[in-house]
Amino acid sequence: MRKNLYVALLLSLVAITCPFISAQKNSVDAEGHEWWQHAVFYELYPRSFADSNNDGVGDLNGITSKMKYLHELGVDAIWITPCYPSPQVDFGYDVADYENIDPMYGTLADFDHMVAEGKKQNVRIILDYVINHTSDQHKWFLASKSSKTSAYRNWYVWHDPKPGNQPPNNWISEFGGSAWKFDPATGQYYYHYFYAEQPDLNWNNPAVEKAMFDVTRWWYKRGVSGFRLDAVDTLFEDPDLRDNPVQPGTTKFGDPNTEHKYNQKLPGVHEVLQNLRRVADEHNAVLIGETWTKNIDELKEYYGGKNKELQMPMDFMFTRVDKLDPAEFRRQIAAADSSGGWPTYVISNHDIPRSYNRYGDGAHNDDIAKLMGAFYLTLRGTPIMYYGEEIGMENNDPKRKEDVKDPEGRTGWPKEIGRDGERTPMQWSDAANGGFSTHQPWLPVPASTKTHNVATESKDPNSVLEFYRKVLALRHSSPVLLDGNYTPLNEDDANVMSYLRTYKGKSVLVALNMSTSPQKPTFKLPNSASNLKSLAATPGASSTGTEVSLPALGVFIAEVQ
Ligand code: NOJ
Repeated sequence: MRKNLYVALLLSLVAITCPFISAQKNSVDAEGHEWWQHAVFYELYPRSFADSNNDGVGDLNGITSKMKYLHELGVDAIWITPCYPSPQVDFGYDVADYENIDPMYGTLADFDHMVAEGKKQNVRIILDYVINHTSDQHKWFLASKSSKTSAYRNWYVWHDPKPGNQPPNNWISEFGGSAWKFDPATGQYYYHYFYAEQPDLNWNNPAVEKAMFDVTRWWYKRGVSGFRLDAVDTLFEDPDLRDNPVQPGTTKFGDPNTEHKYNQKLPGVHEVLQNLRRVADEHNAVLIGETWTKNIDELKEYYGGKNKELQMPMDFMFTRVDKLDPAEFRRQIAAADSSGGWPTYVISNHDIPRSYNRYGDGAHNDDIAKLMGAFYLTLRGTPIMYYGEEIGMENNDPKRKEDVKDPEGRTGWPKEIGRDGERTPMQWSDAANGGFSTHQPWLPVPASTKTHNVATESKDPNSVLEFYRKVLALRHSSPVLLDGNYTPLNEDDANVMSYLRTYKGKSVLVALNMSTSPQKPTFKLPNSASNLKSLAATPGASSTGTEVSLPALGVFIAEVQ
């Protein structure tokens, strides 16, 4: 009894003196929600977010300097795409050392400083963990390649050639060409799902698993709150190396189309992820997965029975709907909501053209950007924003092959122009280079920087940024939006997407006019409803009693009274 009293006293002392530790430990709220279920995540590309030393490439000190901006915007956690030492063949997704920072981004001391500043601003750090492959310059691969008898040989996937020195099978790399590269010195091929400079790790080797798990422990101790796991679908390969079935047609790189039957989503993937989750749970951390699921059953597998696998398998379904299509959105949300896991919503990222371009119609892009923000930020689930989305940043695609930086675009030009367009520098002001750097940035900013930037939009109450701020503030302060059930309304309406979020007897109505003509929908609201109190609306959207008027692409979010 007395011992318990001492423990309780000690815990409350720790809680008083060290509030952040206490917040980390007591992350589950009264209803069992974990911290990541109430958080807004924000993906940022470190090369492009903020450049503190004006060399044209972003860095960690730049991110640190913007922590206050992120906090005030309503961001609770940032996912930083890889910032480890890397030859940068795939802009960091080719990691040469998992336990350090690339000098172009700073030092480990800068990282610690960033974590500390994040704690002050309540912004957690999520690192991108590239677990399928390393760089061919990683010391493990250099050792593996050095001889067939190297202790590291079995850390990667090596095979003898087929007769005639041919690759072991017909597997095609995601970035074009065979997925096998011949090493003349040792007379074998190694496997690379992505570029040849990104050899696949052999996850059947327990030494690989141990080393990779230890890396996560190392970063947890340094203060990270979780990982976004890269390319998890491709961790394992068929042990018999069977040829993938060939399908009609060719890829954008001119290779035969094949079904990735024997080198994607093999069962071993789930065991690894569940083991990684056990380590994450010891640190109250979250695992986000780059999970390219075809349907909700595949998504369910990534949550794992009893949710013991990934807390946040990214559901990319919205990124595949490139138009404002209420019926399709309803279908997708219903599926995600029924998955048994907590939904994770994403509308763009560093591999996909920006949502501003994908949904935009060229005439109402800002209105559409606001509408999409109001939409996915008011759904039941955790949103992952992409930097610049909040200011309506657009793609700035290269116009000439010689300007392309992304190797995918250089190989695939002109069918595949690469991903540079969605990775351009954050637009902080209307100054040269969007105020990102006084030096010419590694990628150019678009002309729209003059109007679409943080400084200019902060002064305009009708800007995309100010609307995002409003919706994000509402989301954080509304238990109904954080925890409430989702009920679709007017499911036959082809123009207005609408739903109720309901929690403890209170409801919030979200009405989004996805058409370019004004709409006056009527809703079946809870019986006693007589009034709608506006919480956030775009100009011209209003209500009288329970009747709503929505101008073209208008947004109306209201408390049902
Ligand atoms: C997925 C990442 O998002 C992408 O940018 C990268 O090229 C591949 N994985 C390979 O790591």
